[in-house]
Amino acid sequence: MGRLVVVSNRVSLPTDKGARAGGLAVALEDAMIPGSLWFGWSGRRGGANSDRASVSEHQGITYATVDLGETDYRRFYVGFSNGALWPLLHYRTGLIDYRRDDYEGYVAVNDLFAARLAPLLQPDDVIWIHDYQLLTLAEALRRLGVKNRIGLFVHIPFVPPAVLHVLPEAEHLVRAMAAADLVGFQTHGDRLNFLESAASCMEMQRVGEDGFVHNGHRTMTTVTPVGIDVEGFARAARRAAGMTETRRLISSLVGRALAIGVDRLDYTKGLPLRFAAFGRLFLRHPEHLRRISLLQIAARSREDVDRYQSLRRELDRQAGEINGAYSDFDWTPVRYMTRAVNRTTIAGFYRIASIGLVTPLRDGMNLVAKEYIAAQDPADPGVLVLSRFAGAAEDLTEALIVNPYDADQVADAMHTALLMPPEERVARHAALLAKIRERTAASFCRAFLDQLRQVER
Ligand code: G6P
Repeated sequence: MGRLVVVSNRVSLPTDKGARAGGLAVALEDAMIPGSLWFGWSGRRGGANSDRASVSEHQGITYATVDLGETDYRRFYVGFSNGALWPLLHYRTGLIDYRRDDYEGYVAVNDLFAARLAPLLQPDDVIWIHDYQLLTLAEALRRLGVKNRIGLFVHIPFVPPAVLHVLPEAEHLVRAMAAADLVGFQTHGDRLNFLESAASCMEMQRVGEDGFVHNGHRTMTTVTPVGIDVEGFARAARRAAGMTETRRLISSLVGRALAIGVDRLDYTKGLPLRFAAFGRLFLRHPEHLRRISLLQIAARSREDVDRYQSLRRELDRQAGEINGAYSDFDWTPVRYMTRAVNRTTIAGFYRIASIGLVTPLRDGMNLVAKEYIAAQDPADPGVLVLSRFAGAAEDLTEALIVNPYDADQVADAMHTALLMPPEERVARHAALLAKIRERTAASFCRAFLDQLRQVER
């Protein structure tokens, strides 16, 4: 069997384990069996683009990374990936900051990745590309004559043609994606949107329900939802529950309940509406005043992108407003922090939280929902309040499913969670736990790679 070559913008280097909040890199760690190669951006920028990848090895896994020059970083990462594609693929066309130069920079960096990766490839390697930063990489590799099997997995939502065509280069982008042999998505809806978008961009012959042929190349699609290492995370949560940080958190609550939110500080996560919903809880159900606090950990993210800076200012203001309105001299309703917290510590915090708030306005999957479930004590679990617009909601129907735009509905769901009888909490949690055990990080990798190895070339 050929070697596995994983390509993603972020590489989880052995030296920065535990520090990153990004679910993608964590999920991919499971795919990296000894003998495989992980290629991507070093996270370094400012100098020149690397003229070759810098290669290191750790526990049998080869890591190969490239640096980006400042202009390419700005165009590729800040500009097109996170200023245009990210809002577009999360249905937020009003937030798109599009510049043609940025798109050229995006394609140039994808071309650079291809040029630096190609010399490292062996003929029977299987190449697995990840996410929206690298949508034109498969096509760039093909242009260099790479004949290997190529898979592409899109971790974030995919939009229908009417939304996609807001982007002037929609057609180019979709054709480039079709250079892969297998394109994977988190949900059935995302896959359908891609197939419809592809049909709107090029002449094609459909192959069954799932694929198409264009210019003699066959592109298949699949749905393989990403998951977590459930048992590993549950172990970490049990261990963390006895650690100093969790004990300090418990004693600071002096018997009050805790609701928890853990997200990157990103406008797709619905944080202003979540804060508003928490404020509405006290208006609609005043019996909870002084009885619950929200701990919101919102790790700062993509700080060079303007929208992220304005969101941060907005949340600072809002947290101050809610605390000003409701705090007492010995109780603060909202505890809000923007630094990243170690995953194990967070696992302990999840375990003691009565409510897990996962209320994105749109999200590919959202692994926090799965981590919150895994971290609970099955004999006395908390309640997950989950947005219907998270990919995770397709499967996790025993959560309290909410529309995050409706702050009153989210407030009522928190109220329901706080009053839920123990038997109902246990039953819902058991059903959710069984579901997340079916689709782990490892089974996600296996499912996608098995299909990639079987596609006809
Ligand atoms: C999301 C994306 C990933 C990305 C991560 C962190 O999970 O799907 O591709 O790596 O956010 O964002 P960042 O911009 O810091 O890589």
